[in-house]
Amino acid sequence: MLVGYFQFNPSFGDVKRNLDAVTTRLAQVRCDLMVLPELFASGYQFVSQEEVESLAEPVPGGPTTTRLIELARDRAMHLVAGLPERHGRRYYNSAVLVGPSGLLGVYRKAHLFYEETLFFSSGETGFQVWDIGSATVGVMICFDWFYPEAARTLALRGAEILCHPSNLVLPHCPDAMVTRCLENRVFSITANRIGSEERGGKDRLTYVGHSEIVTPRGRILHRAPPDQEELTILEIDPKDARNKSLNPYNDLLRDRRKHLYEA
Ligand code: ACM
Repeated sequence: MLVGYFQFNPSFGDVKRNLDAVTTRLAQVRCDLMVLPELFASGYQFVSQEEVESLAEPVPGGPTTTRLIELARDRAMHLVAGLPERHGRRYYNSAVLVGPSGLLGVYRKAHLFYEETLFFSSGETGFQVWDIGSATVGVMICFDWFYPEAARTLALRGAEILCHPSNLVLPHCPDAMVTRCLENRVFSITANRIGSEERGGKDRLTYVGHSEIVTPRGRILHRAPPDQEELTILEIDPKDARNKSLNPYNDLLRDRRKHLYEA
């Protein structure tokens, strides 16, 4: 199975330009599962609720989901990608999973980071998994990495690959995802952005790049540079995530002592 990410520098508010950049770059690729960054078509640093309202999109039917579905059909691939979602009167930092048959699902970010809490509602979709034929995939967004329960829940529900659209500003996540993969025996694809944003008099946010693909044994198959655009596609075998036996005596998920974990 061919999986990948596209790390690039979106321009805030220029949805068409960002969608064009992605469709141009992916126009020739062969890939089964492609992960794009969090809020990849809108940009990240919102400075007012009005901005959120003007850039948020219905799912499906908005320009970003529509274009992603066209791309998925054209390239016969699945994509996971972040966008600001409008649902009724609420706004979510969401990620969609689309494939050649259309929209498969939406995940609404559960753990909002920093000023996202000013503009978005916390998601209640929970940590869902989908069978895309070649693998069972789960979705978490950026700061969800700080809560090991997110990756664990996805693993318990059968995820073989954690798809992780991100706009990371803290340096620790790429290394932390190695542990998330090791402790759950899953693959992860973190698609981060590069560049920086400094909008509306707010502090500059510098995105740390370092998108990566990690194996269930905690091996970093590839990690991108911190500051350069990069499209990476690699072959993995999702079956490597199915066997949770560590040795004849230890089975990762079976041996959990759930009754000892209550606070
Ligand atoms: C983040 O959750 N975008 C850091």
